[in-house]
Amino acid sequence: MAQISNVRACVFDAYGTLFDVHAPTAAIADELGDAAQPLSDLWRQKQLQYSWLRSLMGEHADFWQLTGDALDYALETHNIDNPDIRQRLMDLYENLEAYPDAHDALSQLKDAGYKTGILSNGAPKMLDAALQNSGIAPLIDHPISIEDAGIYKPSSKVYQLAVDRLGVSAQEICFVSANAWDVAGSANFGFQVAHLNRFGQPPERLPGTPKAILTSLSQLPPIIQ
Ligand code: LAC
Repeated sequence: MAQISNVRACVFDAYGTLFDVHAPTAAIADELGDAAQPLSDLWRQKQLQYSWLRSLMGEHADFWQLTGDALDYALETHNIDNPDIRQRLMDLYENLEAYPDAHDALSQLKDAGYKTGILSNGAPKMLDAALQNSGIAPLIDHPISIEDAGIYKPSSKVYQLAVDRLGVSAQEICFVSANAWDVAGSANFGFQVAHLNRFGQPPERLPGTPKAILTSLSQLPPIIQ
């Protein structure tokens, strides 16, 4: 597999990469029945669409609001009018678990001396809750929220936050994302990018190419140097 060289810091996307965004609907799948997976997919799609659309409109609102707005859209699409289900899904989203491969990979990278960070659309309060709940908070040196840029990925203003905060050049950052469009945006910005292709996505037809394509975070530490 391709090596990623001259790396000083490893920075991760959060939702879908370190934290399992489909866990909330899975947790109450018995109640949601056949709607569980399509609801989760639409919730995620709308959350991301709202991030891009609000950025284009110049109407920023934080990711917690977008997550709730997207859930409302998805619930209405599936004819689920149940405030209790809505509340539980939001509570579950606030307290996501990490994917099983996250802890070991982050530990290995930290032990090898790399700086670690998260660069995420998530509002600081959301990131903090997920980091604490998942137990990976001690493994992340720099949790960075796009709130400091006031615009969502893939704006270059967002990726620049990691360069400024970690004090290394863009080329010295290995950025890891499971979102193919975030892979394109971050590679186009100048990071060395690993696409963690958890969801079997084809490459986006956009500027920006990853250096490596992984199927598990366990494959990351051996290719970083
Ligand atoms: C994030 C979204 C893109 O964490 O998953 O930034």
